[in-house]
Amino acid sequence: MLYESVVQPWLFRLDAERAHEEVSGALALLASLPGGAHALAALTGASETGWVKSLEKDVFGVRFPNPVGLAAGFDKDGRLVPILPALGFGFLEIGSVTLEPQPGNPQPRLFRIPESRALLNRMGFNSEGARAVARRLASQDKCRVPLGINLGLNKDTPRAQAPAAYARAFRILAAHGDYFVVNVSSPNTPGLRDLQNAADLTAILAEIQDANAAKKPVLVKLSPDLAPEDFDAAVAVADKFARGLVVSNTTLARDGVDAAWSQEAGGLSGAPLKDRADALLRRARALTKLPIIGVGGIASTEDARLRLDAGADLVQLYTGLVYGGPRAVRDILIGLARETPLFNGR
Ligand SMILES: Cc1cc2nc3c(=O)[nH]c(=O)nc-3n(C[C@H](O)[C@H](O)[C@H](O)COP(=O)(O)O)c2cc1C
Repeated sequence: MLYESVVQPWLFRLDAERAHEEVSGALALLASLPGGAHALAALTGASETGWVKSLEKDVFGVRFPNPVGLAAGFDKDGRLVPILPALGFGFLEIGSVTLEPQPGNPQPRLFRIPESRALLNRMGFNSEGARAVARRLASQDKCRVPLGINLGLNKDTPRAQAPAAYARAFRILAAHGDYFVVNVSSPNTPGLRDLQNAADLTAILAEIQDANAAKKPVLVKLSPDLAPEDFDAAVAVADKFARGLVVSNTTLARDGVDAAWSQEAGGLSGAPLKDRADALLRRARALTKLPIIGVGGIASTEDARLRLDAGADLVQLYTGLVYGGPRAVRDILIGLARETPLFNGR
């Protein structure tokens, strides 16, 4: 197909962040054209999956057209909300959004590792900030699929002010999301992952829930690098104060990639994260009945099926989209639908 033979080789010759900007720019342009989303859905084959009712499901009180979503970090500022459903996604998670705008880390900060089907990033929460994102979402049509909003923390927010900062960002964005994720697991903001301890996490979730009059589902996204007892403690806090989990974020481990990458700071995603994210999903599932979004290394129907069978209610991908291209979600969905009895009966 044209994508594999022409577009991806061209994109992969560009710096990884520049390639992401080119793709985002093209998608934003399409979104601005009348019929653009329809054209993209036809081109990617996503329109073939719209009728697959067998993949619909209700999770934390929200109806999802299918269980395959976009992971946080691809559309940090919610610019592509009108167009991304045309790739077949059953839901989108935008962000991380920080309370105040901030530029993130200096470039280069995103790297491809094609031989490992992996990415390494240390973006550091580049975000337009909660108010700008809320304004944008308010000015757009409502997202065609459920919209999650992932909340991050500004780099210069002192630890003691973290609960208030998350809660303020939540308040500003609350009307615009169908679910929210407290991201305390990015490895690229110094000290952030320390907030996964029971006391800090409880304080953050309690303050958000105080601001949550509409009872929107609030989830917690965990790191794959927590010690087992800390992971279990964080799950226990979520069990009390949250409505779900996202397992997991990127890892500081460098298993599955060339040793030279140990010199480069940042979080690793994609295929090398798959087994770890899968194992953590199983661990979380054994500890709680909360809904869980499984994420990390999912790139095919088999990956998605395995994670769903292991107890994930929904799954997400980011890196799999970079390597799999615009038909990746459609291919996963067609495969999933084939395995379900309703589809087989047609
Ligand atoms: C470039 C990049 C930026 C990301 N930014 C965020 C972010 O802002 N917030 C967040 O919670 N996760 C972020 N992630 C992590 C993803 O949401 C996901 O948890 C992780 O990449 C594992 O999934 P994957 O293997 O399908 O990519 C980012 C990932 C990448 C590759």
